[in-house]
Amino acid sequence: MKIAFFSIHSYDKEYFNRYNTQHQLLFFEAALNEQTTNLAAGSNAVCVFVNDKLNAAVITQLAQLGIKLIALRCAGYNNVDLAAAKANNIKVVRVPAYSPHAVAEHAVALIMTLNRKTHKAYNRVREGDFSLRKLTGFDLYGKKVGVIGTGKIGEAFAKIMIGFGCNVLAYDIYPNENLKQLGIEYTSLENLLKSSDVVSLHCPLTEQTKHIINEHSLSNMKKGAMLINTSRGALIDTKAAIEHLKSGQLGYLGIDVYEQEEKLFFNNLTGEVIQDDVIMRLMSFPNVLITAHQGFFTDEALTQIAQTTLKNIHDFEMGWPLINDVPG
Ligand code: NAI
Repeated sequence: MKIAFFSIHSYDKEYFNRYNTQHQLLFFEAALNEQTTNLAAGSNAVCVFVNDKLNAAVITQLAQLGIKLIALRCAGYNNVDLAAAKANNIKVVRVPAYSPHAVAEHAVALIMTLNRKTHKAYNRVREGDFSLRKLTGFDLYGKKVGVIGTGKIGEAFAKIMIGFGCNVLAYDIYPNENLKQLGIEYTSLENLLKSSDVVSLHCPLTEQTKHIINEHSLSNMKKGAMLINTSRGALIDTKAAIEHLKSGQLGYLGIDVYEQEEKLFFNNLTGEVIQDDVIMRLMSFPNVLITAHQGFFTDEALTQIAQTTLKNIHDFEMGWPLINDVPG
């Protein structure tokens, strides 16, 4: 099959070329949107990532070009209008899991960095400043850590936190039996927010979870608590988070995802004037740590993404059942 890849970076090319044996892969750096759909002309499928916008207009254009398959090389599919795909007879497949440990471990990296300020210590020591001023952290041991969404990533994260000696609280609409057997307590969202020293988000972005962390929920959090989001940016109302950081109600914020990330993340904008005032305000806080959607970025995960995506495409081509199908 001929597949048009959008939002491509050098590492995507490297891993897909390593594992591809049978398809013709066309790599485009451009994100897929209404202006770039024509790049898919002549292809049978498109392969896209988290910030490609597959709304009804794009999907209709893809259908007119003869595209039969949208292969997401990620787990989340909140960027695809599934009803439009179904109406246009286009199948959607995804990579449901690619090293949940990669994302869980990155969430822990954000916690540890914000807490023990290793990013600041690294720079200080390089400048010959060996002082400890303002580097005070806290023991994670014995702290309450609230996990919102306890699927594959949330489970891996919770288990690491148990290893640190934390008391893990969980909230999910479908509690995870493995975690219950480990003695993890499920509670209401309100109680989790009220009691936790650290809150980490691991639920998908849906209509129900959009701005699950908002003005109201931030006010309900324990004063000075840490909030971590490695899931999807729009789980947090960023403007409300800024107000609570300013007042000190929110003690720390670590994010690998951001509501308006598609204009920024995965691009080198060094030397450019960044027009997004909200992220610039966030970047000005000493207790905010931002990484640019790199939670998934390990060798194991990139291997899994390439292999599963190519297998999804192969199964589609052969007319075999699509085990990673996203139903409309
Ligand atoms: P999963 O599907 O295994 O788990 C999601 C959990 O969230 C499920 O247990 C589900 O019941 C729960 N959930 C759904 N709606 C909820 C609600 N309204 N309230 C509370 N819980 C709810 O997904 P997985 O693999 O653990 O991934 C979680 C998210 O992580 C993905 O949806 C994606 O947005 C994000 N992700 C981020 C990456 C990164 O690089 N930063 C990479 C991969 C995924």
